[in-house]
Amino acid sequence: MIRKALTIATATAVLSSGMIYKASAQDAPTPEQQAAAATDTRKSVFKLLRFYLVPLVGMAQGAPFDAAIAEKNGRRIAALAPSIPDLFMHDTRGFDVKTEALDVIWENKAEFEEKAMALMNNANAFADKAATGDRAQTLGAFRALGGSCGNCHDTFRLDDD
Ligand code: HEC
Repeated sequence: MIRKALTIATATAVLSSGMIYKASAQDAPTPEQQAAAATDTRKSVFKLLRFYLVPLVGMAQGAPFDAAIAEKNGRRIAALAPSIPDLFMHDTRGFDVKTEALDVIWENKAEFEEKAMALMNNANAFADKAATGDRAQTLGAFRALGGSCGNCHDTFRLDDD
């Protein structure tokens, strides 16, 4: 009896997993949908980078200095930076996606990666200064960090502002 119940349970599991497989094969995203999803994902990471940068911009512009937040946000940006080239492994050229990414990203991958690594290094250098608690030195390192964002945008992002 128990064995029979188990057999039925197994058969049901096999059947339903087969159905799931069929359903997902049918609903497999089209290349257009995949390109749109890849674009959304990379934009989210840039929003996250901005989220961590904004308080640092504030401090550089005279908001109260908080060394702990400066260090933490610098490290977060440094940790995210190497994922930028990963996020562009999906080549979305030729797809009708809402993007400001320029084709030159995929034509000059080495330079694109260099700019991401520069961001990582400058964010870590900033965080190292923040770890000393010295306001002037930390803010002195801010220009290089903030500049690393614009430095990549200048070459690789559509300038539409
Ligand atoms: C290695 C190149 C590179 C670096 C470094 C970089 N960005 Fe970008 N950023 C891009 C590209 C390319 C896009 C366009 C993405 C798209 O539209 O598909 C972009 C888009 C953005 C966007 C718009 C996202 C959206 O919602 O459309 C923001 C905000 C942004 N970046 C902030 C930053 C900040 C802040 C930094 C630095 C901490 C930074 N970026 C560093 C290349 C870079």
